[in-house]
Amino acid sequence: MNLDEARALMHEWVAGPALRTHMECVAACMGRYADQFQPDQKQRWQICGLLHDLDWEKHPNHDEHPFVAVKLLREKGVDEEILTAILGHAEYSGTPRTTPMAKSLFAVDELAGFIVACAKVRPDGVASLEPRSVKKKLKAREFAAAVSRDDIATGIAELGIDESQHVQTCIEAIRSERARLGV
Ligand SMILES: [Fe+2]
Repeated sequence: MNLDEARALMHEWVAGPALRTHMECVAACMGRYADQFQPDQKQRWQICGLLHDLDWEKHPNHDEHPFVAVKLLREKGVDEEILTAILGHAEYSGTPRTTPMAKSLFAVDELAGFIVACAKVRPDGVASLEPRSVKKKLKAREFAAAVSRDDIATGIAELGIDESQHVQTCIEAIRSERARLGV
């Protein structure tokens, strides 16, 4: 499956613009981490991001998400490293995150959502958003309260990266897609 096919599949399964944008943002962040860990596999990393919540709109419960998507993607020939990463982003699946891809997906998922929430309350969106502003809002528990700060902290610890650098990387990734995604 190439990136265009993954995007077409995502559009087939996900109608909501917010979830589409979220998947695109996670794909952009995954692309940045592919540059660091596995640059020759960048498209696979982006596909992993683009498809990680494929079944969330149709199956928004822990019994089915992301298991329905993983089954479908396996039938479509998507490789096990990607599937294991998608399983691993759901803590309750019990799938350990052992690869850089799986650790990166978990580390960027909630943060990407949080960055979009930060961008939404700014007149110029993500254009001038800085890591210190994001970190300040992370401490304000009432802001975007649904975003798990614990998951973000766990992701950073697993990836073994600096928090500010991680936030910067994800902001830059999302900013690079700003014109297309309108964030
Ligand atoms: Fe997600």
